[in-house]
Amino acid sequence: MFKGLQQKWKVSGLRVLLILCTFAIGGSLTGIAGRYIMGALGINATWLWVIVYIIIVTLIWPLAVLVISIPFGQFRFFISYLKKMGRRMGLGGAIVDNRIAVAVFASGAGSNAARMIEHFRQHPNIRIALIVCNKPGAGVLDIAAKAGIPTLIIEKERFFRGDAYVPVFREAGISFIILAGFLWKVPQALTGAFSGAIINIHPALLPNYGGKGMYGRFVHEAVLAAGDPESGITIHFVDEHYDHGAVIFQARCAVMQNDTADSLAMRIHQLEHQHYPEQAEKVILNTRHHS
Ligand code: GAR
Repeated sequence: MFKGLQQKWKVSGLRVLLILCTFAIGGSLTGIAGRYIMGALGINATWLWVIVYIIIVTLIWPLAVLVISIPFGQFRFFISYLKKMGRRMGLGGAIVDNRIAVAVFASGAGSNAARMIEHFRQHPNIRIALIVCNKPGAGVLDIAAKAGIPTLIIEKERFFRGDAYVPVFREAGISFIILAGFLWKVPQALTGAFSGAIINIHPALLPNYGGKGMYGRFVHEAVLAAGDPESGITIHFVDEHYDHGAVIFQARCAVMQNDTADSLAMRIHQLEHQHYPEQAEKVILNTRHHS
């Protein structure tokens, strides 16, 4: 259970302990305060007592855990926990979601997008607010639909020769963009508007095997044709040139003698899934957000 909570809340073991203490003490305090108030009200009818008690406890509990969370150093966790509860109870309109809104751009199957969605599902500070895709019918659209995340299908003309949908992203409050298998070049209208706030993953060790036409299996085929002993992944900032911005992170894997483009792609995908969400989280939290 402990490990499960650690994964669900994305916190350390120590923090799970502090959070559970806050829940326990906040709950006890709520019970004591509730009974004290009920005593002061002096209600006799049992049914009325129960109703009033439930109302009082519901109102006191959030306050109690918030107060107790301060000495335990968990105030931020409980603020976002209570906001999430509020949203689930349909109070979304009344509660402003001030987490950093991120758009994930993808063109294909979307396995990396799926990992991002999973990683940030319960995140206290970051949410995947939009999935952007240039291909109707792409697998990533089903993934988004299942996760209940809005999607935007973009068209070439507006993306490359129009406003690149910048007003749409602004309107949706997007302040960071993750490219996850997005195969169109990002136009300057977008890199300019989101300067330092767009990252990409490339399935090779840049600067090798990057540039126009170098995507997916073409990259792995080129690596195999060159007989390289290793390949890997590169996570990098995006500028207006293909696969060019500053490198954030690289991880390597061996290329086996009997590898095919498919078997190499599988190993590369594993590396991507292992590292991309965590690296994206670090960059997003270290970026100043304007929206
Ligand atoms: C990933 O391997 C990603 O690195 C690559 O496309 C794949 C998408 O897979 N991106 C590029 O080649 C960009 N130049 P996914 O749809 O399963 O995430």
